[in-house]
Amino acid sequence: ETVTWEADAAEKGGYDHYMRKEIHEQPESLRQTIAGRLDVDRGEVDLDVSFPPGFLADLEEIQIVACGTSNYAGQYAARLFEELSGVRATVDIASEYEFGAGRSPDRTLVVAVTQSGETADTLGAVRRANAAGARTFAVTNTLGSTVTREVDDTAFIRAGPEIGVAATKTFASQVATLAMLAVSIGRERGALAAADVRPVLEGLRDLPGAVQQVLDNENRVREAATEYGDSEAFFFVGRKLGVPVALEGALKLKEISYDHAEGFAAGELKHGPLALVTPDTPVLALLTEGGRADETMNNVTEAQTRGAPAIGCVSAGDEYGTLDVSLPVPDVGVAEPLVANVYLQLFAYHVANDKGRSIDKPRNLAKSVTVE
Ligand code: G6P
Repeated sequence: ETVTWEADAAEKGGYDHYMRKEIHEQPESLRQTIAGRLDVDRGEVDLDVSFPPGFLADLEEIQIVACGTSNYAGQYAARLFEELSGVRATVDIASEYEFGAGRSPDRTLVVAVTQSGETADTLGAVRRANAAGARTFAVTNTLGSTVTREVDDTAFIRAGPEIGVAATKTFASQVATLAMLAVSIGRERGALAAADVRPVLEGLRDLPGAVQQVLDNENRVREAATEYGDSEAFFFVGRKLGVPVALEGALKLKEISYDHAEGFAAGELKHGPLALVTPDTPVLALLTEGGRADETMNNVTEAQTRGAPAIGCVSAGDEYGTLDVSLPVPDVGVAEPLVANVYLQLFAYHVANDKGRSIDKPRNLAKSVTVE
């Protein structure tokens, strides 16, 4: 017994939970994700995958399939694919995916995003894509996983083992890997000049340091979690790249704290959810780069008028004096919402920890779901 306990404590490296350890590992895991893959000066990315000649030039559509947190990484990436690869990108929940009629399989790349590489719903989607004749691609953390044997190509996210059921560092590494894939497809298609992708690559290069700065502010999030953690419900809002991060922030909180949380596009607040807003429903907002933060702040103000406390993740240099809590996000361009997400991970962690929840193994949930 004693030996097991000691081994367990040692593996957690001094942290109470794997989840907090894994949140804090993100500067290092992200360093591994990008190591040797970025050439900022030449505007190149090397993911060590090669598509058949002509495939990328003719590519018409990228279809992303994934579940849970990986689906939100896919939603983040879809916006980057559209912007950087010049190819239409869609995201499906893997269990809902069918290869649509009227699509051209030989001009489609289906990208399965799956940390474990074993999620039954995602494998089912890959099999349907393969049966339709599409080219398939996996973005996974797990060498030798089932998905790697079923797709044409794989890019590994290199986040290292994740023990906590709630995905944290793997989300960050998935988004970073997908962003690199978007750049590499865009460059190979000739859609982008080196100068166009430079800010994106600089943002990726600076990610580990930016995440470290957020981790250094953990006390501020911990205080916010203690102050607002006992609320009735939590709303997460953002625009553009902030939307998938709002969804992910809400998912993290509900998974580990068992509190009701919802994420949605900030503009939708007034189209329904505002009816639920009271002084007992904090709003957490992504006020980051490229997310039309001023408009999001207008939506937040509407919630504050109904008494809701507002916590904002704010781009460095911007200031919204009316926020109840303001959490600064270093300037890393399109990677900013990803960095802001680390605040949301810490918020979920501390709310759940204050309530004494079973953080690493939440009730009813599994790390990898191998049934459809
Ligand atoms: C489970 C996990 C989630 C994860 C999802 C997809 O539901 O609890 O954290 O996001 O599966 O897992 P995958 O391994 O395919 O990324």
